[in-house]
Amino acid sequence: LHPIHRLLSCPGTVATDVRREEQSFGSAETGSEDRTLKRFSEVQKERREQAQRTVLIHCPNKISEKKFLKYLSQHGPISNHFFYESIIDDQLNILLKEFQLTEENTRLRYLTCSLIEDVAAAYFPDCAVRPFGSSVNGFGKLGCDLDMFLDLDEIGKSDAHKTSGNFLMEFQVKNVASERIATQKILSVIGECLDHFGPGCVGVQKILNARCPLVRFSHQASGFQCDLTTNNRIALKSSELLYIYGAVDPRVRALVFTIRCWARAHSLTSSIPGAWITNFSLTMMVIFFLQRRSPPILPTLDYLKTLADAEDKCIIEGHNCTFICDLNRIKPSENAETLELLLKEFFEFFGNFSFNKNSINIRQGKEQNKPESSPLHIQNPFETSLNISKNVSQSQLQKFVDLARESAWILEQEDKDHPSSNQLWGLATLLLPSVAKSMSHTKKKKKPASERIKNLLESIRSSSTENSKNTVGK
Ligand code: CTP
Ligand code: MG
Repeated sequence: LHPIHRLLSCPGTVATDVRREEQSFGSAETGSEDRTLKRFSEVQKERREQAQRTVLIHCPNKISEKKFLKYLSQHGPISNHFFYESIIDDQLNILLKEFQLTEENTRLRYLTCSLIEDVAAAYFPDCAVRPFGSSVNGFGKLGCDLDMFLDLDEIGKSDAHKTSGNFLMEFQVKNVASERIATQKILSVIGECLDHFGPGCVGVQKILNARCPLVRFSHQASGFQCDLTTNNRIALKSSELLYIYGAVDPRVRALVFTIRCWARAHSLTSSIPGAWITNFSLTMMVIFFLQRRSPPILPTLDYLKTLADAEDKCIIEGHNCTFICDLNRIKPSENAETLELLLKEFFEFFGNFSFNKNSINIRQGKEQNKPESSPLHIQNPFETSLNISKNVSQSQLQKFVDLARESAWILEQEDKDHPSSNQLWGLATLLLPSVAKSMSHTKKKKKPASERIKNLLESIRSSSTENSKNTVGK
């Protein structure tokens, strides 16, 4: 199909598909056929009996679930058990659910890549356009940009010598002075092509002198802001690594979303490039922090490399990007800390981190001496000579540290007089600009938190008040 036809017909089809699947899930769950509906009185009787066999135990945060259950079962068989998370944990999970990419949004991202692939194929038959970054690494928030990678590596691998009938076809590539020049030339023609003929591609900018050259454009039909790069295979591998970290423990994504949301609410991050911390850097900081817990919640990259098989071996441009790809072979963490505790400890940890001396290194899971003088140093896990937060200024780092200390203090206070008499509590107090207002160095008028964060706070507040009526802590 010509790109324009797919563009016209597909988005609607995707939406219908999703709806159809949802409907079928729905009917499977409700089991509309041969269902037995219980009478009101039956439910009451059952629940009352259940209650008589149930105990509620208040236990400390750090308890190991397994050991605790083993201990209790010495006193009698346990037919079922539930761990109530703390109420702040619920807030963090709600935030994740509200902001994470939906199924249809994810499909639309892959579809957009596929449409751009059709355009690029005019020049490079058999190329692939693959999404990377937060669209695929599990940390994407609704509205995040769509990072695309034009993969030319497959070209020529299997089809270098195409035979058609009695003829042999051979592609030859012109030599250019360097990889970088080749990348710039490729992106330059694709940029032109998208600008003139790309259906729905507007505002095309060729940013070819950047460290990683790219073409930026808006894709009108999907509404995505797109960044197209090529010769950027390492970023694809780093997306896979982040995906693994986000998938091996359910606390990781909730904590990353919360920290990103907190940073956005306080204008620590911005959609405009500049001296601010990026979401990618924040994610690395959370991963590093979780590697430093005792016992660790996340393994180091070096450890993931030791688990790798021969088929996982991956060297890109001389950089060793090998790590285990089968996440089922990574043992779950023994650490049972709650999100509430982790959030507080995250702020403590980075509120007191020696940023002037140390570099954040997720490969070794240990801070290392800083190899250069940038205020914030986070080692790129694969291109180890690069600092992913080179752009961050001293004043932006200081703002991050001050806000982290302030937030740790607020959570500490909450612990002391919880449930507080304030209307806002828990996560809500951390997201409101009023936190920063009270700080001496931020005299500037703060922008109000985005409308979406406000709405979210409303939902967090109402659902947490509900919860607080039903459950008491752990
Ligand atoms: N990347 C990198 N080094 C950087 C910046 C980015 O390796 N200094 C790679 C990372 O794999 C990152 C991807 O490029 O995930 C996309 O970058 P970016 O769009 O800035 O970050 P995202 O992770 O996509 O987060 P966001 O939701 O803010 O777009
Ligand atoms: Mg991105």
